[in-house]
Amino acid sequence: MRVSDSKIVAKLAELNVELQHSASLSDLTSLGIGGTTDLLRIKSHESLPDLLNLLDTNHVPHKFLGGGSNLLVGDGDLPWVVLQLFRSEPDVVLDGNLAHVDAAADLGRMITFCAKNDLGGMEGLIGVPGTVGGALRMNAGAYGMQIGTYVREVKVYRAASRKIEVLRDHQISFEYRHTSFAPDDMMLAVILELPSKPYKEILQGIRICNEKRRSSQPLGQKSAGCIFKNPPGVSAGRMIDELGLKGLSVGDAQVSDRHANFFVNAGHASAKDMQSLIADVRERVQKSFGVSLENEVVVWNA
Ligand code: EPU
Repeated sequence: MRVSDSKIVAKLAELNVELQHSASLSDLTSLGIGGTTDLLRIKSHESLPDLLNLLDTNHVPHKFLGGGSNLLVGDGDLPWVVLQLFRSEPDVVLDGNLAHVDAAADLGRMITFCAKNDLGGMEGLIGVPGTVGGALRMNAGAYGMQIGTYVREVKVYRAASRKIEVLRDHQISFEYRHTSFAPDDMMLAVILELPSKPYKEILQGIRICNEKRRSSQPLGQKSAGCIFKNPPGVSAGRMIDELGLKGLSVGDAQVSDRHANFFVNAGHASAKDMQSLIADVRERVQKSFGVSLENEVVVWNA
C-alpha cells in the first residue's frame, strides 16, 4: 500500500513521522519473508493519537511492527502500511532495582546492560531476538523465565481508547506466550523490577543458557523461533521430531533439522511456502497425536 495523498504526506512530516515508500518486510523480519508496503517510523510517542486518527480518517489500514522476530508476513503488495517506533537514546535508564526501558530497545542488549549493573533475573531470555516491546506483548520466555514476572508498569498506546495509558502490573495478565494486551495495543515503554545479582553470577547463567540454545536451536538460520506453542505438558518440537519431519520442506521453507519446532527459510521461501508447511505439519500432528497445535508465530496475511 502506498501513501501518496500529498495532504497525508505533509501531515506525517508535521507529526515527526518518517515515511519510507515500498519497504520490504523481508528485510524487517527474522524469517526474511514478506512483501512490500510503506513504512511509517514514529519519532515521538505523543504523536500516536493524532497519527492513528489521521490514518483512520483517511481509511489507511495499518499494523504495528516490533522487532519482526516472531512474525510471518504475506507476499506481494501488502494491503496495509506498517508503523514502527524509533528507538530513543538512552533506551534503558536504571534507578535502583528499576529499569525504565523503551519498547524499541533490543531485548538482548537490555539484558546485558542490566547485567553489567548487577541486575539479573532474565538470563534465560538473552538469546531471544527482538525488541523489549515484542517480548512484552507475548510474554516471551525461555529456560523457566518469562519477562512478565518482572514487569511493574507498561506505557501503551491503546487503539480502543485512542489514548496513551500507563498500566500497573496487576492490570495486565501474563500467561504462557500470551498477555491481556489487545492485538492493536502498541507497547511504548516498560518499568521492570529486577533482582540484584553480581554480574559474574548472571554471566554464568547467561553462558549456560546460551550453550543450551546453541546445542538445540538453529541460531544461524532465518527463523521466527518456535512456530507452534507447546500444548500443556508436551513439546511440539518433540512430537514433530517423532514423526520424522525434520528436513521436510515446501520450496525453501523447511522444518529445521536441529529443532523440529523451528521452521527455517533456507533460501528464498515465500509466505505461501511457509504457510503450507505449517498447515501440513499441523495436520500430521493432529492425525497422529490427536493434538491441535496453535501458532506461536504471528501471521500477517496479505
Ligand atoms: N525435542 C526433540 N526434538 C526436537 C526438539 C525438541 O526431541 O526437535 C525434545 C528435547 O530433547 C526436549 C524437549 O523436546 O526433551 C523440549 O525441547 P526444548 O528444551 O528445546 O524446549 P521446547 O519445548 O521445544 C521451549 C520454548 C522455546 C524455548 C525453549 C527453552 C515454546 C514453544 N518453545 O521449546 O521458545 O527457547 O523451551 O526454554 O514454548 C520460542 O518461544 O520461540 C522458543 C523457541
